[in-house]
This record gives sequence, structure tokens and C-alpha cells, in this order.
Amino acid sequence: MSNKMWGGRFETGPAAIMEEINASIGFDQRLYAQDIAGSKAHATMLATQGIIEASDAEKIVAGLDTILSEIEAGSFTFQRALEDIHMNVESRLAGLIGSPAGRLHTARSRNDQVATDFRLYVRDTIDTLDIQLADLQRALAEKALAHAATVMPGFTHLQTAQPVTFGHHLMAYVEMLGRDRGRFTDARARLNECPLGAAALAGTSFPIDRFATAKALGFDCPTANSLDSVSDRDFVLETLSSAAICAMHLSRFAEEVVIWTSPLVALLKLSDRFTTGSSIMPQKRNPDAAELVRAKIGRIAGAFSGLLMVMKGLALAYAKDMQEDKEGAFDALSTLSLMIAATAGMVRDAVPDKAKMKAAAGSGYSTATDLADWLVRVLGLPFREAHHVTGRIVALASGKGVALHKLTLAEMQEIEPRITQEVFGVLSVAKSVASRVSYGGTAPKNVRAQAKRWLKQLG
Ligand code: ARG
Repeated sequence: MSNKMWGGRFETGPAAIMEEINASIGFDQRLYAQDIAGSKAHATMLATQGIIEASDAEKIVAGLDTILSEIEAGSFTFQRALEDIHMNVESRLAGLIGSPAGRLHTARSRNDQVATDFRLYVRDTIDTLDIQLADLQRALAEKALAHAATVMPGFTHLQTAQPVTFGHHLMAYVEMLGRDRGRFTDARARLNECPLGAAALAGTSFPIDRFATAKALGFDCPTANSLDSVSDRDFVLETLSSAAICAMHLSRFAEEVVIWTSPLVALLKLSDRFTTGSSIMPQKRNPDAAELVRAKIGRIAGAFSGLLMVMKGLALAYAKDMQEDKEGAFDALSTLSLMIAATAGMVRDAVPDKAKMKAAAGSGYSTATDLADWLVRVLGLPFREAHHVTGRIVALASGKGVALHKLTLAEMQEIEPRITQEVFGVLSVAKSVASRVSYGGTAPKNVRAQAKRWLKQLG
């Protein structure tokens, strides 16, 4: 049997394998709510414009509402022979209300329909992600406020560099997530134009009101070019690239959690709720959630580059290639949502080992820069010279196997005679972090102020 929605000129139905490669209902059924909302707006507009009878529009809208409840109740039967969500809904509508259902597709095509549905879906998803990202920022900022003065080693090249505070480190991620949210917000603003009414590719001869449907669906305005409307998926790409960048941030944080919770480092403890045991080694507490957050960026970046390859070189306007926009995007966006939720859970439960952090912060001559800065500030040495003198003092301490503040004044004076007792005031980690008061620096009072600023903004 040929397809009852478009099979007028066909004598036979598709080969089984044709149906298999062609059908998208297996995944695009996720768009049901957006598809129904779009159809309701379209039918209402058609009636207002006198293109269909008001009584037909009423039947269509009521039928669509019934279908919505059937799908939500799980009693709707999706059929692969009907290809996609659009035709599954329309076919059921015909079953429910009879011939008026046939008027719904006036002045539209599945090409503008799917573009509209997917924009609505991506927009809804961005809104949910934004709420989740704000929640993660809140979790980080709250922990940062509690640990504004908890000193830990700061690293460059993963080598101990200078002491920072745990709160400062966490707040770095609050900033990153703030920019991630900004990228999603930008993508949302650009995608919020309505393709509905572009029809197959050229617009329509019916006197439709695209501004009305755009408004009914919460779009800012209709898209201005019918060819562009049905043939671009840049809104998906932009959202996926924002998702990939955000996932990269989460992946870096996760890697730090993995490092910090390793017994070799042991700066941080995760809760039982966010770790797993080993089936053979009873002592193990594995940071699986962190490892998975670290890894899942692969699927998200993959979805982005996959769709970029699909779109590359595709002549205008719609081509079935574009049906490949959905599965990767659905997977990537729900994966990101899961990553954010798991990260927020880990952050809320994580407990830093303050004593170990403090000890680690002071090891590795982490206050050497403070010594060099003191030589510049108090003795007036040029920084390069101060760097050299400090290097020699570090070598002396290292040769004796002691920390900088364990050297005697006399020992230091052998290298730079003008050094005074006052120098010991800058050599402790607490003094070091407290002195980093430049805007954006790690001083506890700065960290407190930044955490409070964010918490106020996050509400
Ligand atoms: N399932 C299709 C997609 O996702 C809907 C649009 C189909 N349009 C067409 N002309 N065959 O792209």
C-alpha cells in the first residue's frame, strides 16, 4: 500500500529497508508537544484568516488536545509506516475528527513544521539547562563561601605554584558556567524566530499571518526568508557548540575531582552517594560519577561535529540529510543535563581535607613568589633580580630539606644581606593568600565578596 499522506502518485509502498532508513518516528516522537503546539497555532491562524472554517479549526484543536493526552498517557500507537511525528499526529487526527483534519496542512509543509518543532524543542531545552546551570553555580558558590579561607595549593603545569583558596578555585568554575549560560542565552535569542509558514521552501499563496503564529508560539517574529527558514540548522549547531564548551568545563572539573580524591593526593572526599565500590577490592571508593562527567563530553562534541558534517556542502533548501540533526542533539542535550545534575550533587556532598590542603599548600616552596615580591617591595630590587635571589634561597632551603620559613635569618642574609626579620611575615600560606587582594585575586575577603555577589545574582 502506498503512503496515505503522500502516496497519490505511487503504486506500491516502500521497500522495508526504505522504510527503515527513512522513518524518524523512533526518535522524533520526542517532538510531540512542540508539534501539537505548532499545529494548534497554525489551525487557529488559518481560521482567523478565513482560510479554513472556524468550526473546522475548533475540531482540529480539540482533536490535537486529545492526541496530546493520548501520547502523555502512553496510549498512542506510533506507526513507522507514517514516517515521522508530523504524519503520525495528522493521521490520528483524521481518525479522531475525520475530513476537517485534512485542512490542517493547508499553507504549510513538513519542512517548515519540523524546523518550527525543533526550534521550540531546543528553546525549551536551553531554558531547562539554564535553570540547572544556575543551580550548579549556586552549589559551587555556597561551598566557596564556606571555604573562602581554606588554603590549598594552586597549580600550573599541575605543579604546586602558589597557595590559593579552595573557595577561589570553585569560584573559577562559577565564572565559566556564567559564560556558558551566556552562550546558551545568545543562541536562544538568535533561534527565537518562527519558520512556520515558510511552507516547503518558497512561502505560500494563502493569506497567512506569520506574525500571529510566531506570537502564539512565543517567538519574537517570523523568519524573514523562506529558503533559509527550512534549510538551516545553525540554531542546533550553535546550541551544541555551547553545550560542548560547557561539557569541556565540567570535564575539567571532573578531572580535578578524580585527581583530588585519589589516595595519592587525598585533598577531597566524595560522599558515598557519588562514589562506587569495587566488586573485588573492598577498600575502593571510585569516583565513577566524576569519571563519567569527564568522559561524556565525547558524545556532545561528537554530536556537534557530526551535524556540522551533515550540513556542510548541503545545497538549499531542505534535504532529507537534515533529518540527521535530531538523534545526536537529543542525546547531547540530555547528556549535558545529566552531567550538570551529577556535578551539582558531587559538589554539594564533597568535603575538602583542610589539614592536608594546608600542608600541601605550603609544600613545594609555594610562597617563593611572595618572597620575591617582598624583595621588590621592601628592598626595592628589580623583579628579575629578586627572582634570582629567591631562587638561590629556595635552592639553599631545598639543599637543607626545609621549608622557606624554616631557614634562619642569618642563612637568608648570606644570600641577600639586606633581608630583615620582617620577611617571615610573608612566608606563611595564610599570609600569602591574604595578600592577594588585587581584583579577582585569591584573598579570602575577595573570594567572600565574589561568592556573595554571585549568590545574590543567582537568587
Ligand atoms: N522527518 C523529517 C525531518 O526530520 C520531517 C521533514 C520531512 N520533509 C520532507 N520533505 N520529507 O527532517
